[in-house]
Amino acid sequence: MEHPLQAWRDTLRELGVVGLVRELAPEPVAPPPSRRVTPEAPPPPPAAPAAYAPPAGPVACPPAAAVQAAATLGDLQCAIEGCLACPLGPGRMKFVFGEGDPAARLLFVGEGPGRDEDLQGRPFVGKAGELLDKMIGALGFSRETTYIANIVKCRPPDNRTPTPEEARTCLGYLQRQIELIRPDVIVTLGATPLRELAGITEGITKLRGQWQRIQVGGREIPLMPTFHPAYVLRQYTQEVRRAVWQDLQAAKEWLDRPAGS
Ligand code: URA
Repeated sequence: MEHPLQAWRDTLRELGVVGLVRELAPEPVAPPPSRRVTPEAPPPPPAAPAAYAPPAGPVACPPAAAVQAAATLGDLQCAIEGCLACPLGPGRMKFVFGEGDPAARLLFVGEGPGRDEDLQGRPFVGKAGELLDKMIGALGFSRETTYIANIVKCRPPDNRTPTPEEARTCLGYLQRQIELIRPDVIVTLGATPLRELAGITEGITKLRGQWQRIQVGGREIPLMPTFHPAYVLRQYTQEVRRAVWQDLQAAKEWLDRPAGS
C-alpha cells in the first residue's frame, strides 16, 4: 500500500525540493496473527472495600482522656503517634505530628502530609513547603519561631483531600496541640483546614483574607484563611501571590499590634 505522504513527497521531488522531507519509513506491517489464541480469563472484579475497623487497644486508638491528659507536645506525640483510628493510619510511612516552637504565637495549619512529609515525618518539606518557608522567612519568622501542623497527621493516598471522617477523627489531636501551643493567630492554608477548624465550607477564593474566630479549649483565636502554597505553585500569578502576601501580612500586623489595642 502506498504511504499516505508518498504523493506529497513525489510532488516535492518533481519540484526539485530535496532534503526537506525524510525518507519515509515503510508503513509498519502488522504481525501475523498468532495461530492459536487462548483467550485470557477476564480479571476478577475488584473486591468491594471492607469497612475499616480500627484495631482495639490503647495504642491503636488513643482514648480521648489520654489526649486530654497530655501536658506537653511531647506527651501528646507519644500518646497518639501509633494511632490507627482511621484508614489513613495503616498506610502511612511516618506519622507527621507537626513541628516548631511549642509556644509559637503564629500557627500554620495545612491539609495533610504528602509523599515527602510521609517519608520524613515532618510537615511541609516538599515543594509547597519550600514556598511556605520562603513566605514565613519574608514575614520575619522561621520554622523554629512558628509552628506548622496539619489537619490529618497521616498521608492520604495519592495526596487526595482527607475525607470529613478522617479529618474529624484527627481533629481532637490538633485541638489539643492548639491548646498546648496557645497561638495568638492561626493561618489556615487552603480550604480543608478552614472547613475543619472553623466549620466554613464557603470557597477559599471568596473567604481568604477575611478574619475568622474559632474557640479552642475555651480560648478565642483569630484565624486568617489563605491559599495553600501548592495552589500558589499551580497558579503562580501575581494576583494569587499578592493575595497570600496580604493575608500573611495581616496576620503579622495582628501579632505586632500594641498590647491592649
Ligand atoms: N501539604 C499540606 O497540606 N501539608 C503538608 O505537610 C505538606 C503539603
